[in-house]
Amino acid sequence: MNMIDLIKKAEISHSLEKAEIAEILNNGEINTELFAAADRVRAKYVGNEVHLRGLIEFSNTCKQNCCYCGLRRENLNVERYRMEPETVIEFAEKAQKIGYKTVVLQSGEDNYYSLDKMERIIKGIKKLGVAMTLSVGEKTTEEYKAYRDWGADRFLLRIETTNKALYHKYDPGMDFDNRMRCLNDLKTLGYEVGTGCLIGLPGQTAEDLANDILFFKTLDADMIGVGPFIPNPDTPMSGDKGGTFEQALKMVAVIRLLLPDINIPATTAMEALNPDGRIIALQSGANVVMPNVTDVDHKKLYLLYPGKICLGESPEQCIGCIGRKIRNIGREISAEPGFRKRTAD
Ligand code: SAM
Ligand code: SF4
Ligand code: FES
Repeated sequence: MNMIDLIKKAEISHSLEKAEIAEILNNGEINTELFAAADRVRAKYVGNEVHLRGLIEFSNTCKQNCCYCGLRRENLNVERYRMEPETVIEFAEKAQKIGYKTVVLQSGEDNYYSLDKMERIIKGIKKLGVAMTLSVGEKTTEEYKAYRDWGADRFLLRIETTNKALYHKYDPGMDFDNRMRCLNDLKTLGYEVGTGCLIGLPGQTAEDLANDILFFKTLDADMIGVGPFIPNPDTPMSGDKGGTFEQALKMVAVIRLLLPDINIPATTAMEALNPDGRIIALQSGANVVMPNVTDVDHKKLYLLYPGKICLGESPEQCIGCIGRKIRNIGREISAEPGFRKRTAD
């Protein structure tokens, strides 16, 4: 089948074979048609609204040692911080006051946050009437159940890569099967589940990325966040090449074609590689943006990769800035918490 027909097939049927996905990802000549098709599918299934989620990076302390990540435990060049539950709740209050309908709590894997502390954070934030997403890594089934019972609505846990050998190479000490167990637990417990992958890991092929997308479909993920791997000078992967903006944008577009009604963020890592990265992603399939709502001092210490955006801007400046950019491309800011609506069923 020629490439344009392949894109048409994906736009109509939302289904492609692994080899077909890989062919699209490998072909640099059909990008305009691919991005336009993804934008049409986005408009048809999730509409013109963009959902803003306020991101609170509440601890940069991590017991894991992922080779690509600046927060890995062996990186001694990081000044570590942990916010107390009251501080996390204060940031959430500020986010709610400036208009956010969802807050996302993200951290390294940090055992400091006992069940008791998480209960205070989750219940305190749920009182504000916002939706809550957690992104705190691998936990036991019991912990996930407790968070959910206290009111957490969504959970983000990227699979990072479905290539098991690559996963074990870049996430030493972690177990691919346990990550799968976590994602299955989260589904069973009734969370809206977000996952995703890194793009451009050394050794990763278009077939691997195609497998990632097919996995997202099988899991029936509600949200997919993907971004380029950006080498961090303080990690063992400092000398590696990293992913490109184009590769990441193509992944966003193909994911939209194949999972038409899910939420897809225009990720910060994409903007780190291209100054208009988030807006371009919003025009190529994405419908969510997650601006940071913590203060400048904490933002500077949560460095996964170099080139993090908005390091000098306040939450008020960011919501103004991204709001203007979104309206400039003819889109609206949603007044809803932005749960997935199953419009494709
Ligand atoms: N610790 C939790 C976890 O790993 O799920 C949540 C926080 S972790 C910092 C969030 C995401 O950052 C990871 O899923 C990973 O994909 C991404 N990340 C880490 N290092 C990165 C890098 N060098 N380039 C791009 N993304 C990176
Ligand atoms: Fe820790 Fe998450 Fe970074 Fe891995 S990706 S080192 S688990 S913060
Ligand atoms: Fe932070 Fe534009 S979104 S300055």
